[in-house]
Amino acid sequence: MTASGLLGEIDGVGRDRKRGGYSRHAFDAPEQDLRAWFGERALGLGLDVDTDHNGNIWAWWGPPGPDAVVTGSHLDSVPGGGAFDGPLGVASALAAVEALQARGFRPTKPFAVVVFAEEEGGRFGVPCLGSRLLTGTIDADKARGLRDADGVTFAEAAAKSGFDPDRVGADPARLGLIGKFVELHVEQGRGLIDLGSPVAVGSTVIAHGRWRFSFAGQGNHAGATLLADRADPMLPAAATVTAVRRLAAGVPDARATVGRLVPTPGGTNVIASTVDLWLDARVPGTATPELVSEIVLAAEAAAAEEGCRVTVTRESYSDDVVFDDALRRDLGGWLGAPPELPTGAGHDAAVLAGFVPSGMLYVRNPTGISHSPEEFAEAGDVEAGAAALATVLERLAR
Ligand code: GLV
Ligand code: MN
Ligand code: MN
Repeated sequence: MTASGLLGEIDGVGRDRKRGGYSRHAFDAPEQDLRAWFGERALGLGLDVDTDHNGNIWAWWGPPGPDAVVTGSHLDSVPGGGAFDGPLGVASALAAVEALQARGFRPTKPFAVVVFAEEEGGRFGVPCLGSRLLTGTIDADKARGLRDADGVTFAEAAAKSGFDPDRVGADPARLGLIGKFVELHVEQGRGLIDLGSPVAVGSTVIAHGRWRFSFAGQGNHAGATLLADRADPMLPAAATVTAVRRLAAGVPDARATVGRLVPTPGGTNVIASTVDLWLDARVPGTATPELVSEIVLAAEAAAAEEGCRVTVTRESYSDDVVFDDALRRDLGGWLGAPPELPTGAGHDAAVLAGFVPSGMLYVRNPTGISHSPEEFAEAGDVEAGAAALATVLERLAR
């Protein structure tokens, strides 16, 4: 089946009627349906499917072994996300395997398609959790203790979905099998729109991280509490949101976002007792922590002014990544020198890049929009991407 055909099969899974788009979060019902779908499709191609200690699914074409050529992406989404971020890479990998089989190709090297768990961090807060666990770039105890919005821990969710939470953590044996990793992904900005090419090779990923700001004040009555008597944590939270934009605007090429803000208890006639907000900050090079320090100072000043307290917790951080030079050159050479693109989006390939030669292919997105229902790729570009992936996998695995 074509990559577009495969995406069509999962078109109805995890639609979010409230937000629009898709909400498919690690180990929830829609994501489990997608996992089952992937397993069936991979088995149908004659691949052997297993799930590792960290909830990542592997589909092996031939026996597993060292120096494996591995491709894949993720099936989870952000809340109300698009149809392509993640599933495009998985569908293209399956389509590429089918196309290679139809050509009579058999890999000489071990070969696997992988689906990484919780790439978006949409449920447990840490992006690329599956690949961070595989590579040991997050402490296993920290991961086990991560909680979703309902207080369910990653360990509990893991146990419920059938793998042993005690075995969660670095998996050097499996990581050691990967010789090269290539992830195909929808382009998430406007990078390819004016370049006249449906496909690009990834060059770099910007340093990025997430911080939780918890403002604590005095919960109280919205009518009976005089303004002068309040310690309302919504005020420093709001001041922090505007400080994020103001301070980031002063740093070249910085991106900083507050996309989630949760007042507790969250009643219209209730002065909140606490407000949590999450900062997503990304600056090329080493400037992200510096920008965040300035934001923290602004948050502390705003909290003090209102008689509130703020605590700040770093939930994740990743340095800049430059994808493997030799692999990038090979990908470009085999694909007739398509453009190279940097990205501000994070990826499992960027986590793996610290351990094994890794690379990325991007497929043109005519809206330039992502993490939104408007994310898009034309069917012709989807097929061009899958064909490009088949070309590079054939070269790598022969
Ligand atoms: C994932 O897409 C991210 O960059 O947040
Ligand atoms: Mn994403
Ligand atoms: Mn993605």
